[in-house]
Amino acid sequence: MKLPEPCGPLSAGVVETLRARPHGPHAVPEPRAMGDVTYPLTDRDFQLALWVLYELHYRGFDDVDDPHAEWDPLLLVSRAALERTFEHTVRQLVQDTPAEAPALDDLGDTPTAQVTAALVRMTARSGPSELAQFLHRRATREEFQAYLSERAVYHLRESDPQSFVLPRIGGAAKVALAELQYDEYGGGRAERLHQALFARALASLDLPTDLAPYVAQATGATLASVNLMSLFALNRRLRGAAMGHLAAFEATSSLPCERILRGARRLRLPDAVADYYDEHVEADAVHEQLAIRGICATLVEDEPELAPDVILGATACLAVDGLAGEVLLDGWRSRREDRAAG
Ligand SMILES: [Fe+2]
Ligand SMILES: [Fe+2]
Repeated sequence: MKLPEPCGPLSAGVVETLRARPHGPHAVPEPRAMGDVTYPLTDRDFQLALWVLYELHYRGFDDVDDPHAEWDPLLLVSRAALERTFEHTVRQLVQDTPAEAPALDDLGDTPTAQVTAALVRMTARSGPSELAQFLHRRATREEFQAYLSERAVYHLRESDPQSFVLPRIGGAAKVALAELQYDEYGGGRAERLHQALFARALASLDLPTDLAPYVAQATGATLASVNLMSLFALNRRLRGAAMGHLAAFEATSSLPCERILRGARRLRLPDAVADYYDEHVEADAVHEQLAIRGICATLVEDEPELAPDVILGATACLAVDGLAGEVLLDGWRSRREDRAAG
């Protein structure tokens, strides 16, 4: 893919720096521009700048010639500055939603028992989201397609962030994560790679299957939900949070996928759309157990000091993904109101 069009001073700083390399000035995006960011979790410019820097660690950009850009020390300085603000805001959000994160001490005698109970409790509380219910019963075909387009930013790279965690953990947790990722990567069959299943769903609706057009229109909150996974997975110190995030993500996926599947059938969308969600109704019910009991519980058995981070990651997942869902729903609602008024 090509570098996205910037949408403000931060993303312009990153994109222009990358375009200018290797011959241009070794400019670092202007950190003072950060003063204009009111709320990093919904600020598209902020999140796009961070997304571009993270993408250098995934598949990169066709129009960035310099193969050394990924580990350029000055770009890493920029990434760290954005990450610090991002992480601070996420921690603040988690602190402000204490109802989601139960106190570990009350939940058992060992970190393993505490983390397992906390994850089960946190994720059981959230039924199918309002967004999934909307897609099930009310969304038009156009709104359903808009949902797929928004989520494409994640699903076309589905499960890739978590693969960075494999070398960062050991023992039973590593084995369980490898098992989960093997499923996500098609269980040995290229045509069942979940990223490919999603691309096929997009193609069946005549939507593009490359990432660029989706990044170009994604909201700041959607980019934040994807960046959150990279933040946790690319920083070894946050490996516990990465796995807590994965557990919350998998444990709150099966029920919504079932609703979305029914929405796809209601709208008589092509089989490829149903196939993606059908696969996840069953797979994610299994992944929920694997992630909570196989990965997180055994991880804190090995490294008990990671317990609070596991809960941080799970809480952040629910809060940030919830925010992205709200932004989408609000957008559709106001468009419906505009149409009704006009
Ligand atoms: Fe998947
Ligand atoms: Fe899954």
